[in-house]
Amino acid sequence: MAARHFLTLNDMTTTELENLVDHGTRLRNEWRQGKVRDSLKNRVLAMVFEKSSTRTRVSFEAGMTQLGGSAMFLSPRDTQLGRGEPIEDSAIVISSMVDAVMIRTFAHETVEKFAKASRAPVINALTDEFHPCQLLADMQTYREHRGSIRGATVAWIGDGNNMCHSYINAATQFDFHLNIATPQGYEPNPELVKAHSSHVTLMREPADAARNANLLVTDVWASMGQEDEQKARERAFSRYQINPALMDIAAKDALIMHCLPAHRGEEISADMIEHPGSVIWDEAENRLHAQKALLEFLILNRLD
Ligand code: CP
Ligand code: NVA
Repeated sequence: MAARHFLTLNDMTTTELENLVDHGTRLRNEWRQGKVRDSLKNRVLAMVFEKSSTRTRVSFEAGMTQLGGSAMFLSPRDTQLGRGEPIEDSAIVISSMVDAVMIRTFAHETVEKFAKASRAPVINALTDEFHPCQLLADMQTYREHRGSIRGATVAWIGDGNNMCHSYINAATQFDFHLNIATPQGYEPNPELVKAHSSHVTLMREPADAARNANLLVTDVWASMGQEDEQKARERAFSRYQINPALMDIAAKDALIMHCLPAHRGEEISADMIEHPGSVIWDEAENRLHAQKALLEFLILNRLD
């Protein structure tokens, strides 16, 4: 049987995604009760990081260990990947020795190429285009705090980046409406927006997007790889901030999420991170639980 991959949320059905999210909550509860689970005993995850990470690395590595397996960190600096060995050759070899491969890289095409040649499941742990693992954690967090997100209004404030793109996929998969407020020139991929037009509205004003929203989400103004654009982006994005004024026009019990790392005073005011509506720390912890569910699903092909 060909391996299942997780390169975008569209690699799963809605039912699979909902089951994954529920399984993540089950795993969180078990873990908090101190239950030992060794569902991935002797299994190995290879983790290829071409960009920095705190949450993704810690959650995948801790997750594998907690399930009885292990994880191996591979950086391009000290593997042949950094010296030009073809991605396909690397995929054939690495996937012949491990049970799953997680990749964080620049071009989305890299994970697609790797997955095509891989015998083992491949997980996209962030590309320039998508960050689907973060959405599993975000959807789990929303569900734990507010129940089903179906029919809710979500406001994306800021850059039309990889996180925004994964929110667009999530809008259709989880059936919520996504208002996206970006400055001119920083809109998400127009083809993706068109494909999801029934669930997505592009706006210019943060206040229009946030009005009566059940969830406000943002992300850094300059993503990894865009460090040179930081100054220009600070000018373009200065009004695109989650702050008390925006929270005042959202729904009364609106939640706030941010995938982190956050730049306080830029895309989010410092007080909003500790606001009662903020579930940012739960969201970060849920990376661990959601990805343990994902690893069990991809490696064992089961969710129980
Ligand atoms: N949110 C997220 O992916 O964080 P890291 O870059 O620290 O992995
Ligand atoms: N958009 C950000 C997300 C970091 C988790 C980036 O790509 O740097």
